[in-house]
Amino acid sequence: MADIQIRPLGGEEELATCARMMAASDPWITLGRGFEASYKSIADPIKEVYVALAGDEIAGFIILNMTGPFVGYIQSICVAPNQRGLGVGSQLVAFAEARIFKVTPNVFICVSSFNQNARHLYERLGYEFIGELRDYLVRGYSELLLRKTIGSLDEFHARQQAESPA
Ligand SMILES: CC(C)(COP(=O)(O)OP(=O)(O)OC[C@H]1O[C@@H](n2cnc3c(N)ncnc32)[C@H](O)[C@@H]1OP(=O)(O)O)[C@@H](O)C(=O)NCCC(=O)NCCS
Repeated sequence: MADIQIRPLGGEEELATCARMMAASDPWITLGRGFEASYKSIADPIKEVYVALAGDEIAGFIILNMTGPFVGYIQSICVAPNQRGLGVGSQLVAFAEARIFKVTPNVFICVSSFNQNARHLYERLGYEFIGELRDYLVRGYSELLLRKTIGSLDEFHARQQAESPA
């Protein structure tokens, strides 16, 4: 397991590093998302962005959307090519789950139909296939919506109320 620290994105320089990492990697290459679009999506103030640090290096990052109809949506996750397969992605997902499950019982994520390795990882981590958005980002490919849940919304809110001090 990689020895990493996870914390919020630090500033402009880190943002540019993450955008470069994203623009140079599939699925974003196939989806036609270059540096500028990647930068814009990471810089969006609505999103929460966390980086995984291996020493001083950014080993990966994760973008969360905590607003809108799919609260608890993992919008993007990217690990530096030389750090893949070492557990960084799994640790970033675990971090996101700890954050999201404090406020909602569902974590959502989309994976491109051609990204079999990532889909395999998410299913191993407990994500269930919900549905297929055909020709959603790019014609000819689908986005597959996955969900991990710890219960229904009514059970979750009842538990929260029971746990909150009177
Ligand atoms: C998918 C990704 C985030 C996983 O992070 P990671 O640190 O490599 O993952 P871990 O080491 O925790 O787990 C390894 C798992 O990732 C999968 N994986 C996906 N792409 C991989 C790659 N390029 N190299 C190694 N493993 C990869 C492996 O199949 C493995 O799954 P398994 O253990 O169920 O067989 C990372 O590989 C990545 O950034 N890939 C490119 C961007 C991407 O596809 N992002 C997801 C968009 S939905």
